[in-house]
Amino acid sequence: MSPTELIQHALKVRLNAFAPYSNFLVGAAVCNAQGEYAVGCNVENAAYGSTICAEAAALSQAVAKGIQAITDIAIVTTSGVTPCGNCRQLIAQLAPDCRVHLANLEPNTTRTITIRELLPDAFTSVPQ
Ligand code: THU
Repeated sequence: MSPTELIQHALKVRLNAFAPYSNFLVGAAVCNAQGEYAVGCNVENAAYGSTICAEAAALSQAVAKGIQAITDIAIVTTSGVTPCGNCRQLIAQLAPDCRVHLANLEPNTTRTITIRELLPDAFTSVPQ
């Protein structure tokens, strides 16, 4: 699946985000080389710390669907921001060689970076 297609999935699911506290909607989509994909959006909670990030939701859905060897993740926000530290750790665990496509709402302004660049020397209990 092309980065553009993956971003379209993230763009669509972003609209389902439940973010009444921050009003910051995040959509994420992950895929593998076989074109299998999973999506997620942020789900906030009145107990702020119970919030689920979009990337965590997408990765959880991928695991539940049996999707392995994730190669790419697209993250869509209004500003094209990088993932939070906790999400970097989650991505590094399941997709250590992942390309991360950071998109905002304007076409053709995507930035692509690897998870190894975003989280060098990530913690792993088992060396990868
Ligand atoms: N958020 C994500 O979904 N992913 C990130 O990587 C950082 C932050 C969400 C959490 C919260 O619902 C909102 O964005 C503002 O922090």
